[in-house]
Formats: sequence, C-alpha cells, structure tokens
Amino acid sequence: SGVTKNLFSAISDPKPMTSRKVTVVGIGAVGMATAVSLLCQGISNDICLIDVMEDRLKGEMMDLQHGSLFLHNPKIHASKDFKSSAGSKVCIVTAGVRQQEGESRLDLVQRNANILKTTIPALCQHSPDAILIIVSNPCDILTYVAWKLSKLPVNRVFGSGTNLDSSRFRFLIAQRLGCSTSSVHGWIIGEHGDSSVPVWSGVNIAGVRLKDIAPKMGDDDDPELWKKVHKDVIDAAYQIIKLKGFTNWAIGLSAAALTNTILTNQHNVHAVSVMVKGRHGLDYEVFLSLPAVIGANGVEKVVMQHLAPNERCALKFSAAMLSEIQCGIKL
Ligand code: 2OP
Repeated sequence: SGVTKNLFSAISDPKPMTSRKVTVVGIGAVGMATAVSLLCQGISNDICLIDVMEDRLKGEMMDLQHGSLFLHNPKIHASKDFKSSAGSKVCIVTAGVRQQEGESRLDLVQRNANILKTTIPALCQHSPDAILIIVSNPCDILTYVAWKLSKLPVNRVFGSGTNLDSSRFRFLIAQRLGCSTSSVHGWIIGEHGDSSVPVWSGVNIAGVRLKDIAPKMGDDDDPELWKKVHKDVIDAAYQIIKLKGFTNWAIGLSAAALTNTILTNQHNVHAVSVMVKGRHGLDYEVFLSLPAVIGANGVEKVVMQHLAPNERCALKFSAAMLSEIQCGIKL
C-alpha cells in the first residue's frame, strides 16, 4: 500500500519464525486456559488454535489478538484446517467431550478416542517433529490411543496425567502446614483419576520426610487423617465440576508448564503419563503417570521411585483396569 511503500525502505523479507510454535487443539475452557497460560507467561509467542467450531474459533482468536499489546506481540492463528498447525514444536490435545456431573473420566473414552482418529494423524502430518501432549480425558487411555495412531516413538507422546493431581496434592499439604506449594515435595502417580496413587513415602519439606515424623501418614489408622488429602485430590475435579461445570485453570497452567519444559529443554521432572510396560513390575502396555525427565525430545527418562508394596499393587490395579478398557476401544 501507499503508506507501507512510503514509510519503509525494505532491506530483506521477514523470516517465518516457528521455533516456539505451539498448537492447541480444542478451544473449550481447557484449550483456552492453556493458550492464555502459554501467552501470559511468555512460554510461546506463536500459537495456533484448532477446532471445528468456526465462529467460536474466530472469536477466540480475535479476542486474544486484541491483547497483543499486553503480550509482547505473539502470533496467534486459528483455523479448522490442520495446515495452519504446520511446524509446531508442541501440539497439545484438549479436544473432546468433558465429564458431566455424575460421569467419571473413563465414561468418555470411546467418544474422545473417535476425535483422536482424525486429529492425531493430521497433527503428525503437518508437524512431523512435534512432541504431543494429550490432555483430554480419560488422559492415560487417550495417550495410549494417540501413541498408537501417531506411530511415534514413546518419548514423543505423553499425557498431562498426574502433573495436575500432584499440584493439587502439594497445594493441599501446603495449606495444612502453612508453607508454599512449591516448597512441599510430593508425587501422585498412576491414573489421572479415581485410582491415582499418592507416594506418601516421598512427601518431604526441605528433605524432612513427613513419614518419619508421622509414621502413619496416609494409612487408614492415621490419627491425623492425612489420607483425606488424597481423597480431596480425587474429589477435586468432581467438586469443581459441581460448582462451576468444568475445570480449566489448573489444567491449563499444568499443560503450559509441561510445554515450557520442552521448549526450553529444561529437563524438569514432572509426573506425566508414559508407557509403563517393564517398569515397577508392570507388564501391561498402558500409559500411567510416573515422574519423568522432560526435555526437547519429550520424555527422556523415568525416575524409578522406591515404591512400597501397596503402592506397586495400586499401580498394577490401575494398569490392569486401563488395559481392559483399552481392549474395548474401536480404533
Ligand atoms: C481435572 O482433573 C477434569 O481431569 C480434569 O481437573
């Protein structure tokens, strides 16, 4: 245009910049919380939103773009066409139906598996080097489904898993003890959902194991009823769904933190849903959360926690249950 011609004297063409490109599939409350978390924290400056609802998609894109001034001028694209996701470093899948009151995460399995059948191959086609993070529920089973559909090596596909449950756990313990969430160390592993496993033996503050101070911590006959904290973690989503209809902020922040670890090759340890076969004596081809070192290559290694016999037993129970459900999925 006239203005451009008279304002600038050109030297070179702009370079397409995709070094931190992230695609978010699904623009429901979780997808948008993820996108906002990525943008507000400066984790990505190049976001592609994908969904099938074109009007809503355009509305969300415009609304975010109008925040450009406050967000260091990120690129924000949106399309129902996966072509616009091309060259993503990380693809985060949040698409799917969510639990209604009274439904468990596992009740959603076939409906959300069907959505992955079109989503995963399209993402892989346009971003052959991306790491896939599966957030949709039931997270662990859908991670397995995505891994199968993608034909990618196991390091390149993982589920957001109990990264969120662990955050809830640490928050609730921190509230009880009057210190910050980040200063409480503790892990919830296994299923992201009703059969998750709290690793009480590892809960510590500044290296002081709480189990050394309160040996019954987490047991049924614990006079301080610490087990209630894990029950509250399991109930958390049900409670929030009852109160506001869905959960989105904490899971969005969790997915953004995982993305940051990948994009900055940080090698942070997060509890994420990984292929467990051959670990902790498990023989099932299922994904469950274990603490894992995450970097630019996705999952690099799993931390082998020293699990108590009842914790191993609980993991095995989840693995067997998920494996059985997986057998019933039509792919
Ligand atoms: C959550 O735990 C519902 O999985 C979702 O918040």
